[in-house]
Amino acid sequence: MPQTNAPAFPTAQTTFAGASIAELAKTHGTPFFAYDRAVITQRVSELKDFDVIRYAQKASSNLALLALVRRLGVVVDAVSAGEVERALRAGFRPDTDPPGIVFTADLFDADAAAVIAKHKIPVNCGSPDMITQLGTFYPGAPVVLRLNPGFGHGHSRKTNTGGEWSKHGIWHTQLEECLRLGREAGVNIHGLHMHIGSGTDFEHLSQVCDAMVAAARVMGPQLDVISAGGGLPIPYRKHQERIDTAAYYRLWDKARKEIEGFVGHPVRLEVEPGRYLVAESCALVTQIRSIKHVDNNLFYLVDAGFDTLVRPAMYGSYHEISICAADGRELGPERDVVVAGPLCESGDVFTQEEGGVVVTRRLPEAKVGDYLVLHDAGAYGAAMSSNYNTRRLATELLLDNGRATVIRERQTIDHILQFERIPADLA
Ligand code: LLP
Repeated sequence: MPQTNAPAFPTAQTTFAGASIAELAKTHGTPFFAYDRAVITQRVSELKDFDVIRYAQKASSNLALLALVRRLGVVVDAVSAGEVERALRAGFRPDTDPPGIVFTADLFDADAAAVIAKHKIPVNCGSPDMITQLGTFYPGAPVVLRLNPGFGHGHSRKTNTGGEWSKHGIWHTQLEECLRLGREAGVNIHGLHMHIGSGTDFEHLSQVCDAMVAAARVMGPQLDVISAGGGLPIPYRKHQERIDTAAYYRLWDKARKEIEGFVGHPVRLEVEPGRYLVAESCALVTQIRSIKHVDNNLFYLVDAGFDTLVRPAMYGSYHEISICAADGRELGPERDVVVAGPLCESGDVFTQEEGGVVVTRRLPEAKVGDYLVLHDAGAYGAAMSSNYNTRRLATELLLDNGRATVIRERQTIDHILQFERIPADLA
């Protein structure tokens, strides 16, 4: 057990972001994601030293959240045609300075190529082929090269995006060759980008600065923007320390100044967080529908599974959990509980570690009908939800000083089935 004097996370809670959990659940049904606007505003303000905060919208791309960060002066990154479309609908424009939208990927699919050509979206290229292809459908395109510096790190092997086994980025030794490809393709390579992984730590993030300075020396005066990528961790376990964003900025600012020294002009410094801006703003509220003993183990079965929040099943991720009594009574003493969902699959467990090892959590004694809240679900929560088992995507709510607005209605079964067809001979 980690040594800490910090108070334990409160496992019994009645409110979230100034709203009554039970009231929200009665009004909107469960499960739902509730985002606290104030937390997103606060996280943005912590990164304001960077010239540009570019939100990696893959973390949570609801139009309302995009509109909110836009209001806060943030621009966005898009990784698909759909995310470009979202950004446009939320009011971002690719032709502003800095560009309101950039596209980052390791390949262009047909949809992405079409939308980039149509709206003239600047591109962060993660593969040499993209440079040549881009020249054919968007001549003169502004391009930033996403480099794999040769090392990476993440909260899980699945979120490490650097090193020789990663599909992401242009291998660092191929930089000169890619600059030549850019000249041949007639695109304007003017920046460098590095993102070594998600949920990494300060030490690993800091190593990127040196790699960036080295790559900038190869690129020379045509460089006018560098991006530190995303990856900033958040304290999923409440005793963990928060990353020092001011110290992180100082490291990057030092690297930027060193680069400015040899390129001879100002260099814009971007940061590209997803998780850091939204993860902690959001609770996933579920309802306990069954409580049972399986031999000596006690299970709370709730009405959301890995169709709604896949991170524990996919990475063994830890989310703090609390219980809210539906009837306002005081909750019983804590017990060791396994928390699982409704899916027809044994991996549908929220209390598990990497590799699928099921573990227990100390949670108050609860009753069927009580609410169970999974915290820090704002990044890669709703965004990674699926219709597995033909279950409807959950409602999303935005909370502003305790007042809730529906920002995505609950899906209907008709929505899920609308594009399926039964061949005439089988009908
Ligand atoms: N920039 C690039 C190029 C990325 O690939 C990513 C994340 C980000 C920025 C934002 O990373 P963040 O600041 O959110 O760590 N589903 C996983 C995370 C996958 C991240 C993929 N790329 C999870 O639930 O932890």
